[in-house]
Amino acid sequence: MHKSSTLAVPDAPEIPRHVAIIMDGNGRWAKRRHLPRFAGHQRGVEAVRTAIKCCVDRGIEYLTLFAFSSENWRRPAEEVALLMELFTGALTKEVVKMHRNGVRLRVIGDLGRFDSRIQSLIGEAERMTAGNTRLTLTIAANYGGRWDVLQALSRLVKDKPPAADGPIAEADLAPYLSMSYAPEPDLFIRTGGEHRISNFLLWQLAYTELYFTDALWPDFDAELLDQAIAWYRGRERRFGRTSEQVEAGGRQKKGEDAELPAGTSRRTRVNA
Ligand code: IPE
Ligand code: IPE
Ligand code: MG
Repeated sequence: MHKSSTLAVPDAPEIPRHVAIIMDGNGRWAKRRHLPRFAGHQRGVEAVRTAIKCCVDRGIEYLTLFAFSSENWRRPAEEVALLMELFTGALTKEVVKMHRNGVRLRVIGDLGRFDSRIQSLIGEAERMTAGNTRLTLTIAANYGGRWDVLQALSRLVKDKPPAADGPIAEADLAPYLSMSYAPEPDLFIRTGGEHRISNFLLWQLAYTELYFTDALWPDFDAELLDQAIAWYRGRERRFGRTSEQVEAGGRQKKGEDAELPAGTSRRTRVNA
């Protein structure tokens, strides 16, 4: 099990181990070009390819992408259908490439609502890539943070009914959450200018550094990712402690200032 940020002080790696992204702004990207919203989603898939490659190149171990929220069914049926087509296309065309590049694919969310073809493509892709270790790519599809906590709680109670008056501990629940295989995200990025979580990883973002950019998702590239990482490296991750405590821990580490991008100060402390 990975360390929980509320039960212990986790590591604060210089390069985020886990980056989680709300890929927002496809529709506005298209609208600005007088194109249908779908064109923005298509370009969004290209930005996903770029993001995967950049994460592999930078040694990021986990990349989690919000592709379709449990609330996105509220969109016009035509847009939902086109998004499903794009998802099916990506599952058929991209997975072999991912496999070749050492990417392990996981899909989280309430998958029962997808048609059976998508469900079986997801199963095949997860099986094919299960042994890969370079990058774990998680796609959140029909995912909602509240759904995640509730499904975890329901499965826990079914497996191990708690004593009538006994509390449920965080450590009891953790293995049932959708992302129990991954450390909590170090860096969250939302493109598209909105400053909200939109029911993404509510539990797992407890101590994640939150980065918002006005860039629209189809424009998100290596440079923008590096800007987010540079910003992350400038944060002091205290996990509830004082700055002095973090400093005291940080001073014990030698050679910390190697490889900093120009103009950034190192504040992301390795915890003692
Ligand atoms: C994000 O882009 C993609 C999905 C939610 C599927 P949007 O489609 O939300 O783009 P905007 O926010 O309308 O620009
Ligand atoms: C969040 O984007 C969901 C995904 C990126 C999949 P939305 O565009 O659906 O978010 P809201 O509705 O503006 O909060
Ligand atoms: Mg949006």
